[in-house]
Amino acid sequence: MTFKKTTGALLLAGATFLSGTAAAEDTIKVGVVAAFSGPFADYGKMIEGGIKAYVLQHGNKVGGKRIEIIVKDTTGPAPEVAKRLAQELVTRDHVDFLAGFGLTPEALAVAPVAEQSKTPMIIMNAATSIITTKSNYIARVSMTLPQVSGPMASWAVKNGLRKVVTLVADYGPGIDAETAFKTNFIGGGGQILESIRVPLRNPEFAPFIQRIKDAKPEAVFIFVPAGEQGVAFMKGYRERGLAEAGIKVIATGDLTDDHVLPVMGDATLGVITTFHYSAAHKSAENQTFLKQFAAANPGAGRPNFMAVAGYDGMSAIYEVVRKLNGKMDGDRAMAILRGMKINSPRGPITIDAQTRDVVQTVYVRRVEKIGGELYNVEFDQYKEMKDTGK
Ligand code: PHB
Repeated sequence: MTFKKTTGALLLAGATFLSGTAAAEDTIKVGVVAAFSGPFADYGKMIEGGIKAYVLQHGNKVGGKRIEIIVKDTTGPAPEVAKRLAQELVTRDHVDFLAGFGLTPEALAVAPVAEQSKTPMIIMNAATSIITTKSNYIARVSMTLPQVSGPMASWAVKNGLRKVVTLVADYGPGIDAETAFKTNFIGGGGQILESIRVPLRNPEFAPFIQRIKDAKPEAVFIFVPAGEQGVAFMKGYRERGLAEAGIKVIATGDLTDDHVLPVMGDATLGVITTFHYSAAHKSAENQTFLKQFAAANPGAGRPNFMAVAGYDGMSAIYEVVRKLNGKMDGDRAMAILRGMKINSPRGPITIDAQTRDVVQTVYVRRVEKIGGELYNVEFDQYKEMKDTGK
């Protein structure tokens, strides 16, 4: 297998020598579009890490073909770059699949490319509900924000919380999270004291954290995109004494993303989140995944939910190629993806036959120490959760 990596700028430079390469008869090409540099660089790295883990475990041949992965860096969030890269992958590289997509705006920008070219597009993270409605050639193996946020609200009311402030990133997934949380929380008898939205790029949390403190809620519900922002929020939470003021943190698991959790510090102990994957999930499939990820990605740290979606997305792609015996066809590929079941490291998942969106167990977890390291420890679950945002 070959891993080619090109940034948007480099791709133009490489265009002349790449244009002569016809789609080799014996390869299946997967074009991976995600951010590999900039503030969301970890998204591409985690997704690619999961893809590498799958290929290491299963080999690079399936259905009589060799799998070739072509990786493109959007440097994002950069929807227009993502769209151009996807167009080039389809028209010049003749990819059989589009995959990756860490960020919602990039997935939405590429949807028309998948639709026009009838190229199956496997979403490995981007989690705004509507994405899968934008083309019949999209299937999602990751999660949606309504799917994981609704259960957080249900759990909160069941456990006696009545007054909450919400804080979300001000774009698709954040608004989906806020809406789904409010619906279940207010529906269950709770009260939302205030709803705060923060910018997607470089949010300055300090003033918002003060507003939360002043509103005196029992808890704050958080969605911020995985990574640095969760670290920054928890730092402010600790420094402004919200724990001492009795304000709990409840969140989607993006906040305590497994890749950054080890460096988040003890302020996260006891934080409750709802999510589809924890590195501490107890199953044989997860043990295998963790081992393969470490072997395929030396020094990359702990894999998170995006790595799992990269791994599962490859599993879906292999299954399609196997069933089509290497003879790719977009419509037949989608028919195979509809209703597909995958034995994921997170537990069994299904791609819904109607919506092409993922159906899965959503776990309730608490941050605890295992052997001196912070983990999201699962202690309750909501089975067979569908996206509720559409
Ligand atoms: C998204 O842009 O859809 C997104 C990004 C990061 C997350 C979840 C969703 O943690």
